[in-house]
Amino acid sequence: MAVKSAKKFWGLSHDPLVLQHVSTEAGAGQKSASVIVHLGKRAIAPKIWKADFIDTDANASNVVRVSDTANRVKMLVSPLAGPENERDPALKSRAPARVRDAMGAVIATLERADVEFAEIDLQLSNVELPWALVGLELALYRYKRIVKGDLSKVRLNLKHNGRPLPAKQITELALLGTGMNISRHLVNLPPNELNPVTYANFAQEFLKGLKLVKVEVWDDKKLASEGMGLISGVGQGSATPPRMVHMKYRPPGGRKTVAFVGKGVTFDTGGLDIKPSSGMRLMKKDMGGSASVFGLLYWAARTGIKQSLDAYLALAENAVSAEAMRPSDVLTARNGLSVEIHNTDAEGRLVMADVIDVAVTAKEKPRYVVDVATLTGAIKVALGTQLAGLFANDPKLAAAIHASGQAVGDLNWVMPLFQRYNSSSSSGFADCVNATDGFGSAITAALFLERFVRDVPWAHLDIYQWRDSPEGAWLEGGGSGQTVACLSHWLGTLK
Ligand code: BES
Ligand code: MN
Ligand code: ZN
Repeated sequence: MAVKSAKKFWGLSHDPLVLQHVSTEAGAGQKSASVIVHLGKRAIAPKIWKADFIDTDANASNVVRVSDTANRVKMLVSPLAGPENERDPALKSRAPARVRDAMGAVIATLERADVEFAEIDLQLSNVELPWALVGLELALYRYKRIVKGDLSKVRLNLKHNGRPLPAKQITELALLGTGMNISRHLVNLPPNELNPVTYANFAQEFLKGLKLVKVEVWDDKKLASEGMGLISGVGQGSATPPRMVHMKYRPPGGRKTVAFVGKGVTFDTGGLDIKPSSGMRLMKKDMGGSASVFGLLYWAARTGIKQSLDAYLALAENAVSAEAMRPSDVLTARNGLSVEIHNTDAEGRLVMADVIDVAVTAKEKPRYVVDVATLTGAIKVALGTQLAGLFANDPKLAAAIHASGQAVGDLNWVMPLFQRYNSSSSSGFADCVNATDGFGSAITAALFLERFVRDVPWAHLDIYQWRDSPEGAWLEGGGSGQTVACLSHWLGTLK
């Protein structure tokens, strides 16, 4: 069958969107605005502009105040800590998330008022400043604009405490937002364009300019010859064969490598155990874990962090066809374990298991392996869309990733790897089944993956990777970039 050639997918420059919107002077007759962003008390507003401030957004009344006099939009942005979560310090909004989300309100207000040129003074500390740029970057992302190669009309003159922000610094600080946007974009792409083959080609093309990154793609023949019967079994029902992408980042003097593995099921029909329509509707996002891992690797390599990384994408489509795997098929994993298919819809743990085995048996053994996957509907029921489920075989690793999530407002909650639930996965015909019918299926899915990590400290993030509606810096729903910020922060804490 014919496989569509890799499209570019990202029509614009690879530089941060913020940088592409920078301009230091307003054009003649352009509608302009001035904005001050700070974390102070809103009471200072009248002292700055001696104007009547009106709320632009009733839902964010402590966030944005605008006065529109004589065609000049003035805006004071002063995000105060919300009342939400005050009772649970672990989930309280902190400065980074408040600043990030305030920038969403800024861009939304400027665009709504048709402003063409805005001077934005970020009156923020050095710790807060990066999150303003991440917020701007997220707020400027719109799926259709990227597809068409368009930009927002508004041009920005960015200042930090009154001094101009140099382009180099803007780029450095905004790149995390760019990594998140790329991750969002991959999730948003339709599954008839993004399939395992075009995705692998895209990864190779997109990373070409980065000298410290090497990309290797394993095709379906290589996966079979490596004995990766689980990912091969999932992919065999699709017109587009499975792939594994391995991206290796080796900075000079980099610390011992950390491996990331992302679930990249480009569409999940459920297979022969087919999903009902409502459950299938959003399943293009079932490659969301791989998108996070890709965005993270991109950020790390472009920022030049001093940490070696191995990032793996486990790519397959879970389709329905005469060749599709059946319930009761027995597949053999790369690590030798035989797995009886109890439910073809539990495909994520299959593709992940074989690739996790590649990651933990690599010649350069990783100090940690972290996997990210839209693995279960159960975690969404338990934690909702904004809290990732975090499982780990090492409590210190769990605590560190949990703390990083809190620090940057990309949250997760630690879940139990309750070993007793393992007993339900025994099979009369193989070493284990891939799924059980009982409760606690986010836990049993995590326990399945744990069988493949050998002795490497491992963490697993079960994510949703989707926003149903705009919120904060995310001015449109769709792919969310979940875990990119959390994991980038965690990498920064490693010594
Ligand atoms: N990709 C789904 C999980 C999912 C569903 C994530 C909805 C986000 C939203 C996964 O492959 C799946 O189908 N899991 C099943 C497992 C079950 C058959 C044991 C589930 O969670 O229902
Ligand atoms: Mn499934
Ligand atoms: Zn799935």
